Amino acid sequence: MAIFLTKTCIFHPLSISLSKSITPNFPLYKIHPISFSVKATKMEESEIKEVGEAGGSTQKKIFVAGATGSTGKRIVEQLLAKGYSVKAGVRDFEKAKTAFSTNSALEIVKADVTEGSDKLAEAISDDSEALICATGFQRSWDLLAPWKVDYYGTLNLVEACRKRGVKRFILISSILVNGAAMGQLLNPAYIFLNVFGLVLVAKLQAENYIRKSGINYTIVRPGGLKNDPPSGNIIMEPEDTLSGGSISRDQVAEVAVEALNHPEASYKVVEIIASPDAPKRSFEELFGAIKQQ
Ligand SMILES: NC(=O)c1ccc[n+]([C@@H]2O[C@H](COP(=O)([O-])OP(=O)(O)OC[C@H]3O[C@@H](n4cnc5c(N)ncnc54)[C@H](OP(=O)(O)O)[C@@H]3O)[C@@H](O)[C@H]2O)c1
Repeated sequence: MAIFLTKTCIFHPLSISLSKSITPNFPLYKIHPISFSVKATKMEESEIKEVGEAGGSTQKKIFVAGATGSTGKRIVEQLLAKGYSVKAGVRDFEKAKTAFSTNSALEIVKADVTEGSDKLAEAISDDSEALICATGFQRSWDLLAPWKVDYYGTLNLVEACRKRGVKRFILISSILVNGAAMGQLLNPAYIFLNVFGLVLVAKLQAENYIRKSGINYTIVRPGGLKNDPPSGNIIMEPEDTLSGGSISRDQVAEVAVEALNHPEASYKVVEIIASPDAPKRSFEELFGAIKQQ
């Protein structure tokens, strides 16, 4: 049986294995030119302020990079549903037109992460309080694509945040990015993904850059991504723990959005998969149980 059949599930969906044991109790879109800006509401300290009532007015604007992607789109939808204003960074306006329904809280801006931090800083502008990065290189003959997008692209976003004073950064990364150090060099997923331009290595380097940048980060490392609705509860583990398993993109988006309002998520790397056998736990418990080294 082929392990990697489609782009939507690149890890073996049937074999959830952990390199450390799981403890029992863990459980109107509107298109604006880049220069568009509205009155800024800056973050206090490193934490995002409380969200208003759903549908109520809120000045918070979250920038989503890779907003037209399978996970990015879900992040945008969930943010809007929770009352956030969203600035969706996209490469392709035409694709964005079909991806999003009309919503006065949604602004769409051009943001190709390979075009440098100055252009990204223009797109982020003065009104973004936090950034969620859900970019990922698209398969092509360009073996450097992972480095251009998943490494330099993410660095460009971090630098753009610095230029704009954005203090909160959520990155969607991947389990097994540190597979070599975990003794997972022969893990088929680790081999397969790195065959395509060493994408896991590129992602790990980007993670390390973020961690040294001083920005308040949450790095979310999901297992294999599925478009199906959630079929189990979230398992959240510390970095370099999970070496298999899968999770619905809906849940990955939820973790990214919830990280914004949970101080327990600050300065942490979390690995996530889902399992029907896992107990349901609140996000306070999930993030709170992660002890960052
Ligand atoms: N697939 C898996 O099983 C799996 C497992 C673990 C982690 N991950 C990671 O999770 C993240 C989300 O995965 P996904 O499958 O939801 O991704 P996806 O659907 O492939 O979306 C990736 C997004 O990145 C955007 N992008 C690509 N190059 C860009 C550039 N130069 N500038 C700006 N945006 C760019 C794409 O733009 P367009 O929409 O214009 O193409 C797309 O919106 C990725 O980082 C991926 O590596 C995936």
